[in-house]
Amino acid sequence: MIQPSGRELEIRLNKATITYNEAGKKEDPVIIFIHGFPFDKKMWDGQLDRLSRNFRCLAFDLPGYGGSTGDISIESYADLLDDFMHMMQIDRAAICGLSMGGYIALRAIVKYPERFSHLILCDTQCIADSDEAKKKRYSTIEVIEKEGLVTFAEGFMKNIFTEKNLQANESYVQTIKATILSTKTETVIATLKALAERMETCSNLKDMKVPSLIICGEEDKITPVKQAQFLHENIPGAKIKLLSAAAHMSNLEQPALFNEAISEFLM
Ligand code: MLT
Repeated sequence: MIQPSGRELEIRLNKATITYNEAGKKEDPVIIFIHGFPFDKKMWDGQLDRLSRNFRCLAFDLPGYGGSTGDISIESYADLLDDFMHMMQIDRAAICGLSMGGYIALRAIVKYPERFSHLILCDTQCIADSDEAKKKRYSTIEVIEKEGLVTFAEGFMKNIFTEKNLQANESYVQTIKATILSTKTETVIATLKALAERMETCSNLKDMKVPSLIICGEEDKITPVKQAQFLHENIPGAKIKLLSAAAHMSNLEQPALFNEAISEFLM
C-alpha cells in the first residue's frame, strides 16, 4: 500500500500546487479521479477505500479547492492533469471524472490522448452551456456576491441528491454541504465563470479510441440521463450503467454499485 486514503500529500507542478490522496499499490494500474463543482478530493474516499484493492487510486484537489492553488479554468485543469502525471511519473492512467470532472476528463483526453487508457464519465455531459445556462450562472454569481454561499449551497444541495438521501441527511450529505460552505467565495465565482465559458466536446466523441464507461444516477437533474445516453451513443463502443436511487452524486449515493461498475469495466 502507498497511502491510506485521507492522508493528504502535496506536489508542486509548473503552474500549481496540488494536494492529493493516494491509495493502492504502486505497481497496479492507475485510476485518477477528478471531482465536480464545488467539491474536493474527499468525495472519492469511498472509491479509494474499495478500488485500491486492485488499482493505484489518486484523487486530487483542483486548484482553488481543498489545499490546491493555481488557475481556475477547464482548459488549465485539463493541462494540469498532463503535468500531474508527468511529475508523478505516470505514463498512462484510467481517468474518472464526475460532472465538472467529466468536462475536464473529456478536454484532457482530446488534448492528451496518449495519456489515458480508459475513460469513465460520471453524471456529466459534452455540451457547452446554452445562453440560458450561462445567464443562470451569472445570476448565481450575483446572489453569491450579495449573500455569500449559504443560499447557493442550500439550493444546490436540493439538486444534487435524491430527495430521500437529502432528507435522511446521510453523513456524505453533511460532508458535501460542509465542503461547499468551506470553499472560498472567489473560487466558486471563478469556477462558475469557467463552467459558463467551457468548450463543448460532443464533436470529439466519435474520435475517442479508449474503452469508455458512462455512469449516471437515474434521478440526476443537473446532467440528466439523456446526456449520459448521448455520450453512450456517440463514443464508439462505450458502455453505460444507470444507477437507481441516485441523483447527481452517484458515487456517494450508490457507492457499492458505482465501485462494482468500475471494477467490472477495468478488470
Ligand atoms: C458539477 O457537479 O460539477 C456541476 O454541477 C457541473 C455544472 O454545474 O455544470
